[in-house]
Order: sequence, then C-alpha cells, then structure tokens
Amino acid sequence: MRESDPKPSTMSPKERKRFRIRVVLATVATVVVVGGGASMLAHCARGGPGASNGGDAEYAEARQLYRTYCGLCHGDEGEGYAADDANALNNQDFLVSVSNEFLRVAIAEGHPGTAMAAYHESRGGPLDDSEIDALIQLMRSWQEEDMVAVDDVVVNGDALRGAEVFARECARCHGDRGQGDSAISLNHPVYLRTASDGQIRYAIAKGRRGTPMPAFEGELSEQSIDDLVALIRSWEPEDNEAEEAEGPNVAAMDGPVIVNPDGEAPDFPALREGRYISSQAVADALQSGRRMVILDARAASDYARFHLPGAIPSPYYEVETVMERIPNDGTWVIAYCACPHAASGRVMDFLREHDFQNTAVLDEGVLHWRDEGFPVVVGDEPGTLADAE
Ligand code: HEC
Ligand code: HEC
Repeated sequence: MRESDPKPSTMSPKERKRFRIRVVLATVATVVVVGGGASMLAHCARGGPGASNGGDAEYAEARQLYRTYCGLCHGDEGEGYAADDANALNNQDFLVSVSNEFLRVAIAEGHPGTAMAAYHESRGGPLDDSEIDALIQLMRSWQEEDMVAVDDVVVNGDALRGAEVFARECARCHGDRGQGDSAISLNHPVYLRTASDGQIRYAIAKGRRGTPMPAFEGELSEQSIDDLVALIRSWEPEDNEAEEAEGPNVAAMDGPVIVNPDGEAPDFPALREGRYISSQAVADALQSGRRMVILDARAASDYARFHLPGAIPSPYYEVETVMERIPNDGTWVIAYCACPHAASGRVMDFLREHDFQNTAVLDEGVLHWRDEGFPVVVGDEPGTLADAE
C-alpha cells in the first residue's frame, strides 16, 4: 500500500471497491499479464463498427474492470481459453449474434455450477449495473462485423431426431447431455432462458471462427440443424425463472480464518509442480484436524452456494483485503476455485509475492471435490466438518 492512499476504513463501500481494484491491479498485474502486452497494442490499432477513435480513454475504466474480473479466464483481450472452457468473448460470430441483454444476464447471473460466477452485486458479486454495462460496451468495441438478425428465425425441429445427431456430432465436446466438457455447456438454464432459437441455430450453422466450434452449415441438412436446436431447447427446465439469490458481503466478513487452530500442521506430500495439492490430501488433513487456512478464490456469489468446511471467502479480486486477516507464520494456506487453477492460482501467487511460506492450490478444483463426495458446507458461514454434507 502506498503512503498517499487513503485508508480503506474511511471510505464508502464504493470507494473501498475502487481502491481494492486499484491495489489488486497494481500488485497482481505483474504476475498475471505475462505476455499480454503485444496483443493489447494490436487491439488498440484495430478499427471496425464498435471501435471508436479515442476509445482508449472511453474504455479505460471498462478495460480495468475486465482485467480485474474477467481476463484470468476469458483472456485479457477476450480471446478466450485462458482457463478451461471460458469462451472467446471477442469472437465475431459470437458478438454479431448475441444481444446486450443476453450478455447482461450471463454476467449478472453467471452459469452457477460452472466456473462462470454471478457478478452482479445483488447476488453477492462485485459489479453494479453500470459496471456491467461498461463491460458490455467494451465487448462491443471488439466487434468488427455487423449484427445479424437472429431473433425472427423460426425453427421447426424434432428433438428426438436431434438427439441422434447430437450424440454423433456434438457430445464429444459439449458432453452427452450438453452439460459441457471440453466446450461450453449448452443446457444451462441461464443460457437457455436468454438465448433465442435463432441465436442457437446461428452458432451451429456458422460455428465460431478461430475456435474448435465447427460450422455445420453444408455438413448437416437444414432440417438436422433445426432438430438440434429443438433438442437443446428441450433441455430447458419447465419453470425457467431467474433465481433470487443473496450472496455474502465479503468485505463485512471478519470471523476466524484458521481451520483447527489448535491442530498440528498437515503432513502434505510434495506439491505437484511446486503448486498443486490433491483433494485427497486436503480431505485427509481436514479429517485429522490439521491447522490450515482454506481460501475460496471464487466470486463471493459462488461461495454461498457451497464451499469447503472452514473455508473463508477470498474472491480473486479481493485478495488484498483478505490477506490482511491471514497469519503469515507458516500456517498452510490452501486456495481453490472452480476453474480449477485460474482464480486460485492468482490468489496463491499474490500470497507468495507477499512471502507466505506454505501455500498451495487445490489441484482438481471445487466442482470435482464435490462430485467426488468430499464434504461441502452450504451457506454464508465457513462452518466446520460437522456442518458438512
Ligand atoms: C473463473 C473463470 C471465469 C471468470 C473469472 C469469468 N468467466 Fe465468464 N465464463 C467462464 C466459463 C467457464 C463460461 C462457460 C460456462 C458454461 O459452460 O456454461 C463462461 C461464460 C461466460 C459468458 C456466456 C457465454 C455464452 O455464450 O453463453 C459470458 C458473456 C461471460 N462468461 C462473460 C464474463 C465476464 C464479462 C466476466 C468478468 C466479469 C467473466 N465472464 C468472468 C469462466 C469465467
Ligand atoms: C470440436 C469441439 C466441438 C464440436 C464437435 C461442437 N462444438 Fe459447439 N462449441 C465448441 C466450442 C469450443 C464452442 C465455444 C466457442 C467460442 O465461442 O469460444 C462452441 C459453441 C457452441 C454453441 C454456442 C454456445 C454459447 O453459449 O454461446 C452452440 C449452440 C454449439 N456450440 C452447438 C454445437 C452443436 C449442436 C454441435 C454438434 C452439431 C457442436 N456444437 C459441436 C466446440 C464444439
């Protein structure tokens, strides 16, 4: 922290947030922006419908928001795939076929159950309406091609026929039920509530240039493409309303941070690549009452859904604030996320930069942890093993 900076305690919540963004950017940027410089310049030189002259000043704040909250997975220039199946947000075939409303809902509500968290403050996320709008405008500034009219497209398909084609052509990337695999999910309620039939059809027909998503126009009949849309649409839950969810207020949380404060240190095996610890080793340490700190590096909205027993919320964009509460005395600190290494890796690198000695990232990530039947706690409180399901 620089001497001239005002103290966080004398700031309004909004100021606190801006302050934290600034601090995190100033300190974390060096770790995460390896090699990002060149592509940034290339982007600035580009023209197109959305890219206004003088855009640099106009988008400076949005770009800062984007780099703080989104770049670690979607890439600092929206190129996608910095982490797992976070799609390319600067892809032309994507941008020309999605509405601002589609983007707004995806960012505000996220895709719970995947690495894509809910970012609106009403859900415990860090962003307000105008910040989400600014991010949408930034994405629009990456758009070089004109919008296509997808919303009036009428699709007449048969989901049963579509299922055969899907198993043959699509499941290997999107999962057998569209749950996502090496590629983005297609069955998510938030996606299906806001994606029009025409938008889905356009993605299948045209593909996404520069990504693994092929164009199926010409490969499959028009009818087969309609059948696929009908199948994907059939995955939508009947009562597909927006979930009302209140996430925890991370800044306000100041309870105990150490799990098993009186326990002995865990006896962890050597970390894989000097960074990663297996779920099994962490589960064993929890079970045998070992002393450690567990940091949930996801957005706070995800923490409330479920987290590891005793874990405290430590969103990757709040790490500076959370760090002040963690003892720097050799206590083991384990960070995890869904991605499974992007957000937790950012948090761990930040702690290592600040000379924390025993730090690791949960190798398989929290979704795998839960799916393997390791204990999780639901709700705003860290909880203990006894509260776990
Ligand atoms: C921790 C990684 C991660 C972070 C950080 C992240 N995303 Fe995502 N995002 C994903 C993943 C993974 C998906 C695909 C989810 C799925 O399979 O349903 C996704 C999906 C999306 C989608 C929907 C795309 C579609 O076609 O359905 C949008 C829009 C999006 N993200 C924007 C953002 C923005 C803007 C931010 C920053 C505020 C952000 N994301 C932060 C991982 C992330
Ligand atoms: C080789 C892997 C692969 C195959 C095969 C594949 N896809 Fe995709 N698909 C992707 C990827 C990757 C994306 C996201 C690309 C991006 O925009 O970054 C995607 C995106 C999509 C989207 C847009 C989703 C969204 O949230 O924006 C739809 C719809 C889709 N695919 C449907 C299909 C269908 C239907 C098939 C089979 C006919 C299929 N895909 C086959 C990899 C694949």
